[in-house]
Amino acid sequence: MTIESAVAAPVVRPAPSRAALDRATKRLQGAVPDVEIAVHAPLIARIEALKAERDAIVLAHNYMTPEIFHGVADLVGDSLALANLASETEASVIVLAGVHFMAETAKLINPDKTVLIPDLGAGCSLAESITPADVRALRAQYPGVPVVTYVNTSAAVKAECDICCTSSNAVEVVESLGSDRVIFVPDQYLSAHVATQTDVEIIPWDGACEVHERFVAQDLISLRESWPGIEIIAHPECPQEVLAEADFVGSTSGMIQHVRDQRPERVALITECSMSDNVAAELPEIDFVRPCNLCPYMKRITLTKIARSLETMQHAVEIDEAVAGRARIAVERMLAVGRGRGG
Ligand code: 13P
Ligand code: SF4
Repeated sequence: MTIESAVAAPVVRPAPSRAALDRATKRLQGAVPDVEIAVHAPLIARIEALKAERDAIVLAHNYMTPEIFHGVADLVGDSLALANLASETEASVIVLAGVHFMAETAKLINPDKTVLIPDLGAGCSLAESITPADVRALRAQYPGVPVVTYVNTSAAVKAECDICCTSSNAVEVVESLGSDRVIFVPDQYLSAHVATQTDVEIIPWDGACEVHERFVAQDLISLRESWPGIEIIAHPECPQEVLAEADFVGSTSGMIQHVRDQRPERVALITECSMSDNVAAELPEIDFVRPCNLCPYMKRITLTKIARSLETMQHAVEIDEAVAGRARIAVERMLAVGRGRGG
């Protein structure tokens, strides 16, 4: 074989039609600076064509950048909404524009569908903070105490737990177990927040989100000094001292809904950066002050990688069936409890 014949011929695709480019441009207007629209529109048009070819949908987390969130997402939401939407879709292929545990959750709910994560490096510091052996050790230390796992964990960890929760329904899930005490893994800050909302005793683990734990109370105090009257909304993965300074605490979708309902003149979302960009595009009359902590894992997902993922059908999420069977029970028990008071 010659060197030339060993090199795969590039796939030649027809240039996107004017109509497809116009549709992509319309989706991005007001969401990204005008100069960026011309760069993103051809990629968005290509992804739209690939979605139709593959019978695929893109589910996107609220932390995706605006060109993904507004440009190619069919459905958007927080972790609980993404799990619910994954359970309802008829599409054959789900592209999860988010992090790996979200793609695993979608696969657990849809074992017969293809679930793609565009970059295998899209992990999560919370999911990394606990192993299945850690959960087994906790069970040995606290015999008979049920284990609630935040959805930000691997399927292997979920398989060791009784039920999942997200930041939207954590209190309701904890109380659904009818136990005086529960083990709550892996986020120490979410578990501390839940403990303030319920009489159930919470036994925590010491994991943390590397994005939210960087916020400190002084950040919020300084915001109030600079912008008197500002509404400050925080995600429950932040430390307790930060939540104590906030006007409202909720999941990412809970935070967005709060802004939609309250329409404050000026607001700061104490969470990952891209969310303010996405909501500001929807509510241009509100002044968003943007403290900026980026999630390096979420930011691994780009339009180029989504297009490549649909072209190559990589990376398809696969979960060992023995693990999946047990992890699915924890997720399905959560979905049966539903959306609760957590925001
Ligand atoms: P939500 O479920 O609130 O969207 O949170 C997911 C997450 O990873 C936040 O860091
Ligand atoms: Fe994980 Fe934090 Fe990134 Fe959310 S923001 S995916 S919890 S590291």
